[in-house]
Amino acid sequence: MSKGKLEKFAEIGTFPNVFQLPSLHNSEDFSLKGKWHKEYFKNDNPLVLELGCGKGEYTVGLAERFADKNFIGVDIKGARLWRGSKTAFDNKMNNVAFVRTRIDHIEKVFALGEVDEIWVTFPDPQPQKTRERKRLTSPVFLKRYANILKPGGIVNLKTDNFPLYDYSKEVAQELKLELLAATADLYKSIEKAEVAYISKNAELLQIKTYYEKMFLEQGLKINYLSFKISALQNG
Ligand SMILES: C[S@@+](CC[C@H](N)C(=O)[O-])C[C@H]1O[C@@H](n2cnc3c(N)ncnc32)[C@H](O)[C@@H]1O
Repeated sequence: MSKGKLEKFAEIGTFPNVFQLPSLHNSEDFSLKGKWHKEYFKNDNPLVLELGCGKGEYTVGLAERFADKNFIGVDIKGARLWRGSKTAFDNKMNNVAFVRTRIDHIEKVFALGEVDEIWVTFPDPQPQKTRERKRLTSPVFLKRYANILKPGGIVNLKTDNFPLYDYSKEVAQELKLELLAATADLYKSIEKAEVAYISKNAELLQIKTYYEKMFLEQGLKINYLSFKISALQNG
């Protein structure tokens, strides 16, 4: 029988690769901020985040393919994080960790320049105009990312939701961020080799999260956007 939410919650408390920081808004910076490389991973390899990682398929999938990079999945839902953290723990993957917190407080977990790349995988689209600030690709969140990424760090978005893709692309353009790739149909772009950046990264772009598999079964197209954050870091 599969484990219930409470059991999963209890179990992640015992995993050394999970850091639970649900109330960061009331507290000081997390103790590993600025020290992830030295004190946790014990190497200088690039650090890649998956924000709103859910069960962490991208985090684990990337970590399996890139032993020379470190990966951290971030989500507020502990029972979901259990899946990825258990796989990483059982497989002794020492380049993976998970943080349970709200992404709103990400600057308390990572220092400026500590992160090389960010993936935002199938975020809640927050379609109501009044909830724009909650979108993980709104200017509010992009400024937070600019405060933890290295100069020229990259943000990737994968979504089934065309309006969110379109909105994110517009925000990136308004903020003068350098677009690396933009497609409203990722798998067609891969098949037709339409965009050089996508062809170059085709293998990792085809890692599928839990939500992506669901959306593909429903026949939905996958949108992908990638841009550099530099313009937000230069002033
Ligand atoms: C639609 S699910 C996608 C999960 C996973 N990326 C996937 O593709 O299967 C969105 C996830 O983002 C998380 N999330 C949304 N807003 C968040 C926030 N502000 N802080 C932390 N997690 C958040 C939710 O808990 C949820 O697990």
